[in-house]
Amino acid sequence: MRIVLGVGGGIAAYKVASLLRLFTEAGHDVTVIPTEAATRFVGVATWEALSGHPVSNSVFDAVDTVNHVRLGHQAELIVVAPATADLLARAATGQADDLLTNTLLMAGDCPVLMAPAMHTEMWQHPATQANVESLRSRGVTVLEPASGRLTGADSGPGRLPEPEAIFTAAMALAGASAAPAGRPAGPGSQPRPNTEDAAAGPSAARPLAGLTVTVSAGGTREPLDPVRFLGNRSSGKQGAALAAAARDAGARVRLLAAHMEVPAPDGVELIQVETALELRKAALHAAADSDVVIMAAAVADFRPADVSDTKIKKRDDVADPVISLVRNPDILRELVEVRDAAARNQLIVGFAAETGDAGGDVLEYARAKLRRKACDLLVVNQVGRDKVFGEDTNSVVILSRAGAEPQEASGSKSDVAAAVIDRISAELARVVPPV
Ligand SMILES: Cc1cc2nc3c(=O)[nH]c(=O)nc-3n(C[C@H](O)[C@H](O)[C@H](O)COP(=O)(O)O)c2cc1C
Repeated sequence: MRIVLGVGGGIAAYKVASLLRLFTEAGHDVTVIPTEAATRFVGVATWEALSGHPVSNSVFDAVDTVNHVRLGHQAELIVVAPATADLLARAATGQADDLLTNTLLMAGDCPVLMAPAMHTEMWQHPATQANVESLRSRGVTVLEPASGRLTGADSGPGRLPEPEAIFTAAMALAGASAAPAGRPAGPGSQPRPNTEDAAAGPSAARPLAGLTVTVSAGGTREPLDPVRFLGNRSSGKQGAALAAAARDAGARVRLLAAHMEVPAPDGVELIQVETALELRKAALHAAADSDVVIMAAAVADFRPADVSDTKIKKRDDVADPVISLVRNPDILRELVEVRDAAARNQLIVGFAAETGDAGGDVLEYARAKLRRKACDLLVVNQVGRDKVFGEDTNSVVILSRAGAEPQEASGSKSDVAAAVIDRISAELARVVPPV
């Protein structure tokens, strides 16, 4: 994909070198356009070396190719990071006083993502907020800045989101924009009913008609060698039941299946994964155009630090092996961060399997998990060797971040899935009334 990466004159410009690497390593062709001020923070040589293209910030360079026209027409995605207060203002008011702003005006309906970074006072200033509002109303995706330590000793909202979060949001925007007509135009747009089904609006029987739901199910397996793995007891039955219930509610369903003991239900798109890292990649990709993400898979918290290429043998002449583990990424938390950074209208549901122990009961641990993960709903079940895993019945409590009363559901895993999907439908109807 041809990407134009605009860089504004802020301290965070140095972080954008990492963003550029993420784009080029993913195989994209990136032309960097720094502003004049940006070149005071990071030199042209850095952008040229990392992008492999000449870099300019003036419309009067390479006039024979009319750079801004060519770049604007060829761009399939424009990302501006850091978007300074000044750049937001210039873009919002359609100024064309350098190569980047000229290119933005030439870009037609190319998706544009801006990642602002500035001091909190500048970000919260009514002038900046009005500019952001104006850009968003014209279809530009303006990310919310992250909160935290700023250039000086101060902290607050205004930090550039991490390069990985900008990269994921940008890929999501490009992916959503490339989707067939009728799909939402990107995270900045509000992804409500989006297929021909939706024309009729959701009905009581098919409350998720027109929506895309991604469900993860089963248990991840973390290889130790070509033969062995660390796994868990998840059968995938609850996740499969959720996928079937979402399909029956009218949704287009994508099932991210780790190891499952039951077949995937008919009528869902199946994506098979094995490890937590594979599930992470598939989930972030699928979430980009999903209205609802339900993370029901049992994901390993840890994976072996080293994976042997050959079978680990019992040997009398060497000591028995010791397995060191490293932490897997927190997929649920990451999905929430990317959704929030992209200001995407998406409901995220987590699952918690808790055993309870001397330090707390199941609900206490689940409430703490909900606070940590910041997903919208958390479905909690108590697990143990003879409870839940592999069984055909389940008993859960649904906790909501908005603070609604915990809701209990029990019965077959299909009954529980239907209750969860009903609850999701009710949450969606509460946020955005049916059209
Ligand atoms: C050390 C330093 C750090 C700056 N950091 C930021 C910043 O993070 N965000 C911002 O909006 N402006 C920042 N500025 C101000 C911009 O550089 C200034 O508004 C400039 O005109 C922006 O030009 P541009 O939008 O064409 O890149 C900073 C200035 C200095 C000297």
